[in-house]
Amino acid sequence: MQMVATVQALRVLLAAPRGAGKTIGLVPTMGSFHDGHLSLMRASRERDDVVVVSLFVNPTQFGPGDDYLEYPRDLERDARMADEAGAHLLFAPPEDEMYPPGDATLVEVTGDLTDRLCGAFRPGHFRGVATVVAKLLGIVQPHRAYFGEKDYQQLMVVRRLVADLHLPVEIVGVATVREPDGLAMSSRNRYLSPPEREAATVLYRSLAQARELVRAGVREAGEVLARARETIVREPLVKLQYLEAADAGSLAPVERICGPTVLALAAYVGNTRLIDNVIVEG
Ligand code: PAJ
Repeated sequence: MQMVATVQALRVLLAAPRGAGKTIGLVPTMGSFHDGHLSLMRASRERDDVVVVSLFVNPTQFGPGDDYLEYPRDLERDARMADEAGAHLLFAPPEDEMYPPGDATLVEVTGDLTDRLCGAFRPGHFRGVATVVAKLLGIVQPHRAYFGEKDYQQLMVVRRLVADLHLPVEIVGVATVREPDGLAMSSRNRYLSPPEREAATVLYRSLAQARELVRAGVREAGEVLARARETIVREPLVKLQYLEAADAGSLAPVERICGPTVLALAAYVGNTRLIDNVIVEG
């Protein structure tokens, strides 16, 4: 695996395989790799001839109180893991390569896709994500780009962005990778103390419980969500920020669960904000 820090160097390296008709896959990340990231790389490895992993802790998607400065960074470890997962190129640019002096363009997906769920609590977050993803797609010009369902709203925002800007790339969603006890893997899990780590299991447990209720025939979203909230409230180290049911395609609010629906939550476990979701079929 080769590491590159500049757009120019990346373009030079991709020119030959692109010219030879090889397919290029892009896995955008902020590093601090775990099995969730690696499953995206492996998914690209299965489909694409060249796997490009980008590693950039994107400042524009962090809010003022967020963990931009504390966000875990370990380039050497990440490079080793990406290499083992079969990546060919690791693109790790400095900030002024992605946002050079004079940079003045923002990309914003509007409406239900960004106003609700995490968007309601993290103003500007999805604008930062959309802007950096648009840049990365322009830089790499991949045939496919891979995003995790763990960040379901992000995946939907990226799908919308690509459709609306007519970008010639296929967006591939990859299933959430979980710890054996169900907790969704996240770079932020390492912030958790042992009691918080234990308490965090309630997030997926409550979602799995909600999914069982839907499977058992309960269709009122309010009832399903209320039961899941009761489970979360019993865990004193966890403070729920939101738990909602949304149409899995548009993210519009859902009252009766009849089609594909995402049950999504965000919660603070101690000071660490975690998100998770499951998809249910009515
Ligand atoms: P990051 O949090 O590093 O995640 C990179 C990719 O890995 C995202 O597509 C995310 O959904 C996926 N991912 C994270 N945890 C996962 C899990 N447990 N299972 C499956 N996939 C998982 O998301 C970002 O970075 C940034 O917002 C980015 C898209 C790179 C833009 O800056």
